Amino acid sequence: MKNNNSSGANGVGHKGVVSAVVTGLMDLFSQKDQLPPLDPEQRIDGKVCLVTGANSGLGKAVAIDLARRGGHVLMVCRSGIPEAGEAVKKASGNPNVEMLQADLSDLDSVTKLCDHIQARNIKLDIAVMNAGLMPLHARRTPQGYEVMFAVHFLANRLLLERWLKDGVIPLNRNAANLPRVVFVSSEAHQSSAPIDFNRFAEFQDYGIKDGMKFYGLSKLHLTTFVQELNRRVNQNGQLRLMIHSLCPGPIASNIARESPAYIKPILAPIMRLLFRSPEQAAKPVILLACAASMGRRSNVYLHMMREKQPSPLALDSLNGEQLWVLSAQLIQPYITASRRETECL
Ligand SMILES: NC(=O)c1ccc[n+]([C@@H]2O[C@H](COP(=O)([O-])OP(=O)(O)OC[C@H]3O[C@@H](n4cnc5c(N)ncnc54)[C@H](OP(=O)(O)O)[C@@H]3O)[C@@H](O)[C@H]2O)c1
Repeated sequence: MKNNNSSGANGVGHKGVVSAVVTGLMDLFSQKDQLPPLDPEQRIDGKVCLVTGANSGLGKAVAIDLARRGGHVLMVCRSGIPEAGEAVKKASGNPNVEMLQADLSDLDSVTKLCDHIQARNIKLDIAVMNAGLMPLHARRTPQGYEVMFAVHFLANRLLLERWLKDGVIPLNRNAANLPRVVFVSSEAHQSSAPIDFNRFAEFQDYGIKDGMKFYGLSKLHLTTFVQELNRRVNQNGQLRLMIHSLCPGPIASNIARESPAYIKPILAPIMRLLFRSPEQAAKPVILLACAASMGRRSNVYLHMMREKQPSPLALDSLNGEQLWVLSAQLIQPYITASRRETECL
């Protein structure tokens, strides 16, 4: 299927670092069809919330916001333990914040996290799948995958498979109490080349020039997965889980931490002056994760505070089916016999 939306939101696209920055800036200043943010007084007292990549940038801001509203927040982090958790407790005034260690590029580590959550009989009300990175060049994970493929897509694929199987995300709740999962994607997926299913999950080497291309491709994997998850979980119009995704827009975060020394002096002031703060970027995440105003809906895609469509490639159900089946083979060895086999997809 041809991607008719290859230039993304504003006709510039994300083919390279420069066009991605220009795209981000143009999107940033567009006010069209903006949704109002969630009232800061709206509470989620006692709701169990999990945020991946919660020690930095967007994830940390989301964790603080959820904790301020009264959530019990589980911060899944590779680093920043315990200081990031202490910072979230302090900023939110909520002591109900825990940190769970996991390296999401390593399927063994993802499995240990799932085992831990299952053993504690945790039931999630809200999950924000946020962890992400932009490496300088291709890196292999312990299982030999390209690192962005592993963190942006495969870890989320395994986490959701386990959580649904284990009943960590319950699918049998009444309509007023449905759990929600929010995936942090990127508009860069709109400009990606199609997934080559003949070379699915193959490690491909790339350097700085093609980093953005592979970033967009990994987010296309994620966004295609979100569509297929929706099709499989919420079949025949029966809403069992609210599954949403978004692009938070350009954020002054640590995402560019690996950029080369010669770019940093240019990038740093641009990010500081023109990109959104993590707190601002958290608003669409919070809207999807908590707002009653989103209604009894699933599969909303936001670009910042504006609802739009993901790319045609991501929406294509044949792509979703292939992605699901091929990735099922990759995660199968990590699916152990769980206590509750009732929610197998
Ligand atoms: N920044 C932007 O302009 C922008 C635009 C669109 C979308 N996004 C998306 O927004 C999300 C958050 O990014 P950010 O901008 O807030 O960047 P950030 O400040 O660099 O935060 C990224 C988070 O992901 C975590 N992470 C990365 N690799 C991990 C791994 N292997 N295991 C566990 N955690 C890992 C990081 O942990 P460590 O600190 O331990 O590495 C960090 O907590 C990402 O999905 C990103 O793709 C960002």
